[in-house]
Amino acid sequence: MFKRFRRIRMNGIIRDMVQETRVDIDDLIYPIFVREGEKFRKEIASMPGLFQMSIDEALKECEELLKLGINKILLFGIPEVKDSIGSDALNSDGIIAKALTAIKKSFGQNIVAITDLCFCEYTDHGHCGILNLEQASVNNDATLEITAKQALIHAHAGADIIAPSGMMDGAVKTIREALDGDGFVDLPIMSYSTKFASAYYGPFRDAAESAPSFGDRKTYQMNPANRREAIAESLEDEAQGADILMVKPALAYLDIVREIRDNTKLPICVYNVSGEYSMLKTAAQAGVIDYDKVLLETMISFKRAGADIIITYHAKEVAKLLKDKNL
Ligand code: PBG
Ligand code: ZN
Repeated sequence: MFKRFRRIRMNGIIRDMVQETRVDIDDLIYPIFVREGEKFRKEIASMPGLFQMSIDEALKECEELLKLGINKILLFGIPEVKDSIGSDALNSDGIIAKALTAIKKSFGQNIVAITDLCFCEYTDHGHCGILNLEQASVNNDATLEITAKQALIHAHAGADIIAPSGMMDGAVKTIREALDGDGFVDLPIMSYSTKFASAYYGPFRDAAESAPSFGDRKTYQMNPANRREAIAESLEDEAQGADILMVKPALAYLDIVREIRDNTKLPICVYNVSGEYSMLKTAAQAGVIDYDKVLLETMISFKRAGADIIITYHAKEVAKLLKDKNL
């Protein structure tokens, strides 16, 4: 006697019926990079198909997304002027505040605008906060003070979800208190709770013009080798009041996604990062993979690992494939 697993694989309808995980259009979040200017749209060299754009163009982008059925965006701002503390991010007339205001004015409740809350796009040194006196690393608690300010800028400009990505200790608690203190008790926090110091972010730093001018991010982002610490980071953010947890990058860290899934009841998001995107694009251009199939298989792997939500530069492509029911 042996089990005939193949019995339920013989017919496509039956295969669909017993499929355990699915990718849904509602899972997808699409990142948008906004900068000053008008009618500006420039392709990011290391991320074919992705653009930096001015606010008017971002509004057109949102329209296109809605047509495809995508209703969630993750906003990154690239300011005109950078300085040591990232002042543009603390300004109610800064790029992110203006972009949010415009998007909420045009689309209201139809689009959920998530804001990446960090300082690396806004600082002249490219680090994710205020430097300490020796200028060697980021000062955690000084950065928390401006983190609270940045959160309120986002909240007042209409952010629907705030997503702190700087990996400062205490950021979630700080933001929650700032929001609650200003009446934003119902504004959710999606924390980049387990974020590794990863070389997969390379192309993003082109896109956001946020590469650190010296050193690296290893004093705040996690060591890719650490699994116990990865779980502890996410559980700590849950304890501080995060509403949604995140693992970033996604593909090389699916074991971490699963383990957090087994240790929390909160929704989990994965960030399918820039390097993961560029690798697939480059492989497709080289003609060595069936791009659409590899793409969907990659998305399914995130869901199977236990993620509920996927931030991906592929969102528009996935939406089209789901429409054609190529899954
Ligand atoms: C900002 C931030 C980064 C990413 C998202 N938010 C860059 C970094 O931490 O260096 C990476 C996204 C990607 O690679 O797609 N802290
Ligand atoms: Zn940062």
